[in-house]
Amino acid sequence: MAVPIDGETKRQQVAAMFSRISRKYDFMNTVMTAGMHSRWRRVAARAATEGLSPGPALDVATGTGGLAFELARRAEVQEVVGLDFVPGMLALAQVLERRQGQRQRLHWVLGDALFLPFPDSAFACVTSGFAMRNVTDVGSAVSEMSRVVRPGGRVALLEMTPLARRRLGSRLLWAYFSHVVPALGQVLAGDREAYTYLPESVEQFLTAEQLGRLMEEAGLVSVRWQLLGMGLVALHVGEKP
Ligand SMILES: C[S@@+](CC[C@H](N)C(=O)[O-])C[C@H]1O[C@@H](n2cnc3c(N)ncnc32)[C@H](O)[C@@H]1O
Repeated sequence: MAVPIDGETKRQQVAAMFSRISRKYDFMNTVMTAGMHSRWRRVAARAATEGLSPGPALDVATGTGGLAFELARRAEVQEVVGLDFVPGMLALAQVLERRQGQRQRLHWVLGDALFLPFPDSAFACVTSGFAMRNVTDVGSAVSEMSRVVRPGGRVALLEMTPLARRRLGSRLLWAYFSHVVPALGQVLAGDREAYTYLPESVEQFLTAEQLGRLMEEAGLVSVRWQLLGMGLVALHVGEKP
């Protein structure tokens, strides 16, 4: 029987898990998605910024900074802040930043997605990739993102979403994701638990429609989404009026 856990316990478990797998995180993403995860972040960065007047960008729960780096490549973005609550993830982001030579425009902040340490309307756009499943209160996280984006700015969420398993292709994809991925996690990252949590957390997460409604409840308008990765990944974009 599943034992319900409280918010603080989940927060600590999530932080410990990402701390544990930080060094294998990017490698595992590349293996699991056959390299597609980089493209999804590029699509998200474009959707978050295209046509915006220039300004700073925030990537919430940035991990090793993949989406922050994509934002920094966009002409509309003057500087990027990447925030995460796991120091090991941010340390790796800094190593990658040095390798990429993108130093001037990136800043790394240790902080919590539920209590963003920024004033209202500070950013032209705010993004988050594959993180909303992991926070203890998605509504509060989206409200915080909405609070710190400026009027006319955008919030973009890239996240895995429960797969409608109607067709053979999506049933096979789900079988891969729920059975093969945990085995890959065990063999390649030495952490079956983290890569069992992954499909379980997707299964329990909001549908794309529900996440879209939640963004509207957080005050965002013109909320739209597209499905990527055969429907396993959803990219939502909303605007602050
Ligand atoms: C699946 S990783 C995603 C990392 C990155 N955004 C990406 O696109 O690969 C989830 C990240 O969310 C971070 N995270 C989870 N809950 C958080 C919270 N409440 N505040 C800040 N970071 C959080 C974890 O530390 C982890 O780095």
